[in-house]
Parts: sequence; structure tokens; C-alpha cells
Amino acid sequence: MQAQAVAQPNIALIKYWGKRDVQRNLPAVSSLSVTLDTLWTTMSVEFSAAFPDDSLTLNKEPVAKLLPRVSACLDRVAGSERHRARVISECNFPIAAGLASSAASFAALVVAADAAVGGEGDRLTLARAAGHASGSAARSLFGGFVELDAGVGDNDISLSPLADAEHWPMEVVVAITERGKKPVSSGDAMQRSAETSPFYSRWLSDQSVDLDTARDAVKQRDFDKLGEIAEHNCLKMHSVTWTSRPPIVYWNTATVACMQAVRELRGQGAAVFFTIDAGPQVKAVCLPESADRVAEALGNVPGVVQVMRSGLGRGARRLAAA
Ligand code: DP6
Repeated sequence: MQAQAVAQPNIALIKYWGKRDVQRNLPAVSSLSVTLDTLWTTMSVEFSAAFPDDSLTLNKEPVAKLLPRVSACLDRVAGSERHRARVISECNFPIAAGLASSAASFAALVVAADAAVGGEGDRLTLARAAGHASGSAARSLFGGFVELDAGVGDNDISLSPLADAEHWPMEVVVAITERGKKPVSSGDAMQRSAETSPFYSRWLSDQSVDLDTARDAVKQRDFDKLGEIAEHNCLKMHSVTWTSRPPIVYWNTATVACMQAVRELRGQGAAVFFTIDAGPQVKAVCLPESADRVAEALGNVPGVVQVMRSGLGRGARRLAAA
């Protein structure tokens, strides 16, 4: 009863920020993302009657903090009567630093757990299980451009792949400005935003317009239109966090310098826009022909400690047994 899976993080262009049901971790708004390819997380899940408890090892270190969420996620996929599990994960990028590490982790976890118990691998069921653990994880079950429909009331989420990498190739240049963990988790920050930001209600009510615009842009392959709405949506999400009480500011000086560099590159004709999640890293989304100059320029921004590059990738999938 052992299986392995791999998943890539996804970057939201229209953000999920806020929950309508904290217990079931259902999002308050729909979202749209791109799944990456060169960043990855692998998960090996083994169920055995011989294990006294669930255990989790991440990059060869035991991790206790994430274990309750992992155990609850395994219950959802394999049933609460399941045997205890040994979960071993490897990740090739910084964890809990605003790079969607939890998205890739839970997407890989549900695929591996389902395969380990001989499940059917139904994408939507697995995406929902991953989403209950971490909202953004549901999108990493699918590749390319992915829309997540939040649903209403008791209804669960649903997902639509909009376009794959062949339909519209894109590169994402990630400027890492800090390797440390973020000061406030996304979940806690969303809660605080909902309770205290005067902009939160407007954030909710405008989301469907942003989403419609972004979906149209993907269908029409209109890069400028996509970039304009993605930057607007990102800045709106961060305006909500800045105006929470106490405020949540994920950016540092280099984050702002990278945003400025992206604007300058665009002024010089590069096809690029930025987006930023719950952390200080800047993701510059570009058309492939602009990626070299974007990577070079961001690498030269003071405070940028590393630049990673990725194309668009596939959804979470099982790995053949070693
Ligand atoms: C800013 O999926 O990490 O990256 O459901 O509480 O685990 P939880 O939140 P999480 O939030 C992601 C927030 C975001 C935007 C996005 O990915 O859509």
C-alpha cells in the first residue's frame, strides 16, 4: 500500500483570498491560476498496520506542525478507518515563503494516497480533497491555465482547465527576495482580512468581473489584457491585507523594486506582468521571447537572492514505483 506522486505549484493570476466556510475550507471567491513545471514536490505515501502513528518527513526532516492537516487530508482520501501512514516529501523550492508550497504538497499527497489505496484517481474528487486541506492546492491537480469556481452555499468547488501550455506557452520568472517563512500564514491572514479590512466586501463583490476578464484574455490569448487584470487583482488583494488590523505587509524593499523593474521592462517593450502571493517573492509572467531579459533584469535587482524560471506544466500525477 505504497505510492508516489509529483505535483507542481500554481501561481494565481486572479487570487483566492477569503473563505466562506472555514470548517470545510471553502473559498469565498473563484480564482484562476497557471501551473508551473520546473518547481516540484514529490510525495510518497505508505499505509501499514505496522505504523503506530502517521509520520511526515519533508526534505529528510521530520515535520510535526503540518501533520494534523496531512492526517486529515489522508482521512478524506483513504477513509478514517485507514492504516497509519508514512509520508515522505521532497521539494526543490523554498517552503512556506509565498511560493505555493502547500498547493504542490497537498496536490501530490492526494494523488499518492489515492493510488496507495487503489482509488480511481478521479480528478475532481481529488482536487476537492486537496482544496479542503489548502484552497490553492485544488488547482494543482490540473495543468496550464486553470479556473476554480468557488461554488455557493454548501456546494463544493469545481475546476475547469482553460488552456494548456501548447495552447499558450508562457514563462514565469520567480524573483526570490527572502528565503524565510512568511510572518502570517495565508489562512490566518485571510481571516483577519475578512474581519477587519474595510476593502474586503468590495474585494468579494468585484472578483467575478476580474475573473471574466481574465478568462476572456486566456481564450483570446490577449497578453496585455491578462497582465492588466492580473496586476490589478494582485494589488487589490494586497490592499486588503495592508488595510487589515493589525496590517499584514508581505512585501519588502526588493519586492517593490521588482515590481518597478517589471514596469520598466514593459515600457521597453517586454511582454511581462507581475503577481505576488502571500510572501515577498515576485512572479513575473512573460511570453517566452521576453523571458531572458526579464530574468536578467530581475536578477540584477538589489535584494533578489535567486531567480527561478519555469514554463507551464501538467497537473499532479502518479510516479511509477522506483
Ligand atoms: C495568496 O491556499 O495557502 O496564494 O486554503 O488557507 O491553505 P489555505 O490558503 P492558501 O492561500 C493561497 C493564497 C494566495 C492566492 C492564491 O493562490 O489564489
